[in-house]
Amino acid sequence: MQKNFKRTLITTALPYANGPVHIGHLAGVYIPADIYARYLRSRGDEVVMIGGSDEHGVPITIKARKEGVTPQDIVDCYHAIIRDSMKELGISFDVYSRTTSELHRQTASEFFRRLYDNDQFEKQTSMQPYDEQAGQFLADRYVTGTCPHCGHDGAYGDQCEACGTSLNATDLINPRSSLTDAPVTMRETSHWYLPLNRWEDALRHWILDEHTEWKTNVAGQCKSWLDAGLQPRAVSRDLDWGVPVPVEGADGKVLYVWFDAPIGYISNTKEILPDSWEKWWKDPETRIINFIGKDNIVFHCIVFPAMLMAYGDGFQLPDNVPANEFLNLEGDKISTSRNWAVWLHEYLRDFPGKQDVLRYVLTATAPETKDNDFTWADFQARNNNELVAILGNFVNRAMMLTHKYFNGIVPEPGEFTEVDRQMFADVRSAIKSVSESIDTFHFREALRCAMDIARTGNKYLQETEPWKVAKTDMPRVATVLYCALQVCADIAVVFEPFLPFMAEDLSKMLHLESRDWEAAGSENLLPAGTTLEQPHLLFEKIDDAAIDAQLQRLQRIKEENKVNSFKAQPQAPDVDFDTFARSDLRVGTVLECEKVPKADRLLRFLIDDGLQKRTIVSGIAKYYKPEELIGKQVCFIANLPPRKLKGIISQGMILSAENADGSLVVIGPSAPVVPGAQVK
Ligand code: MF3
Ligand code: ZN
Repeated sequence: MQKNFKRTLITTALPYANGPVHIGHLAGVYIPADIYARYLRSRGDEVVMIGGSDEHGVPITIKARKEGVTPQDIVDCYHAIIRDSMKELGISFDVYSRTTSELHRQTASEFFRRLYDNDQFEKQTSMQPYDEQAGQFLADRYVTGTCPHCGHDGAYGDQCEACGTSLNATDLINPRSSLTDAPVTMRETSHWYLPLNRWEDALRHWILDEHTEWKTNVAGQCKSWLDAGLQPRAVSRDLDWGVPVPVEGADGKVLYVWFDAPIGYISNTKEILPDSWEKWWKDPETRIINFIGKDNIVFHCIVFPAMLMAYGDGFQLPDNVPANEFLNLEGDKISTSRNWAVWLHEYLRDFPGKQDVLRYVLTATAPETKDNDFTWADFQARNNNELVAILGNFVNRAMMLTHKYFNGIVPEPGEFTEVDRQMFADVRSAIKSVSESIDTFHFREALRCAMDIARTGNKYLQETEPWKVAKTDMPRVATVLYCALQVCADIAVVFEPFLPFMAEDLSKMLHLESRDWEAAGSENLLPAGTTLEQPHLLFEKIDDAAIDAQLQRLQRIKEENKVNSFKAQPQAPDVDFDTFARSDLRVGTVLECEKVPKADRLLRFLIDDGLQKRTIVSGIAKYYKPEELIGKQVCFIANLPPRKLKGIISQGMILSAENADGSLVVIGPSAPVVPGAQVK
């Protein structure tokens, strides 16, 4: 639906304050939102960008309990880390607040109360898990027991992490409370439900008929929810952390976190615009854009819009919800609990001054249409081959040449030639593509087109060769460098939404006064006579050592996770002693050990077993160098029938233990014994 807008309200999913933000949050939500906000501002639009921490919900209470602190301590800690690190990355929130603020509590409370007073809820009773000893209801996450699918006995009431199945607390075998370890009982409780079914037709029409321009991943999820039929959804919980339900007799109940959090967008708007917030939410000439990740689609496209419609009073629905898919890290799903992430605050510590590099790489690899992968090798390559070699190099050449031939003063151009005019035309068409791509939320493509401006500049210098022309025709050199410097100025303008630190730095070097988007591409953005600063490099190469350090960190985490998640195999069925005793286990001394040619897993041993020299082939070549084992004593089974492996007859099997990561460790006696000693 094409409408005329006066202003744009940009919201960004409020991150849970139970951990820091990572590259997945940034690529999915905050960087695209920031590009969009900065771009609209540079066009002169009226924009507000809303952010804040989502500080309620069960996971925060669980984390607090685990660490022996209060939920408020947890959110105070992470709210500060998130707020400060996003600020350092240049995410230009107009407000970054929090859902534990008094203003939010009032706003969310009033919102609920109005729906309650207007009969927009249904009250329903249900049976919920209860801890008799603690005297309280338990969220599904607080119930643990045996998984009915895989038998894992630390499964949570909402999910078994061993087999990945999602569960209800009532599915668990022997459910226990993780507060007191008491057996869980079921008790009746009542909650308020938002009857989404009442809004089904309106939502269907609004999404599927009126917003055919939405991204297909978003529309697709909405359609499948709508097609399945909407059900009433509980909007309160029995919990002691959250906004209390503002109704008599609702002691011990709080608003469901997904009810209060999106209202945070409204509270945070009120916080910065106490007098004019209403026009940002209720004027049809305001356009509302929600930046979120794909796991938030249903809440932003179905639940929150239903809440707003139920509230009425002129609240507008979002115009677009450009949700992204997920970013993976080195091939694996990012996970806060497994520490499998690149955390923003750690990145800023490890790569000081390189905010724009991260912004660049995360925009270039943003998971806009499908899940995507972040790798450190790609990070390094994009910095070295694109930012340094294309962008930084072009600007540096144009500025150095101006210092060399014109004392760093933008020269007066002569008549433009065809080459000059073509160059300006190419730059203008690239800028137009950047605008069109940002307007349609295609930020990767927008960045690629922005880089075309620098590519065009490099090509122009290559074609015009001012360093050669300088021998014969200085007026022509003046024209060429004048044109090249216009491109530098275009870069300072067009890259501002993407790489604001570089753009600021470059503007200062150029003494570029205005950075209006509309002026970019003109033939006189940087007037002749402007004095340039001495140039410095905009980007520097990132060496292998910095990348290796990051890869080693991830490797360590991977190993820790394997050890932490190791589960010993269930015990095997009994064998009688005689069966066991028929195995002839002995210790031998390794006389020779070498790799088996053309078999990367196998080692050939020659072993002194007290009777003879025995050949045994063993599949442990990946874990040992042959020379490490010569002279060692190993335990082996002597009475297995001989077996041919790669043409070698193996007389027995060396015993080894399999570690959590699948590696093998050879078993031997803890003190020297005579070769041929029996193991019993
Ligand atoms: N905290 C939620 C998450 O990280 C997002 C909340 S978005 C809001 O998935 F709309 F509820 F604020
Ligand atoms: Zn399971």
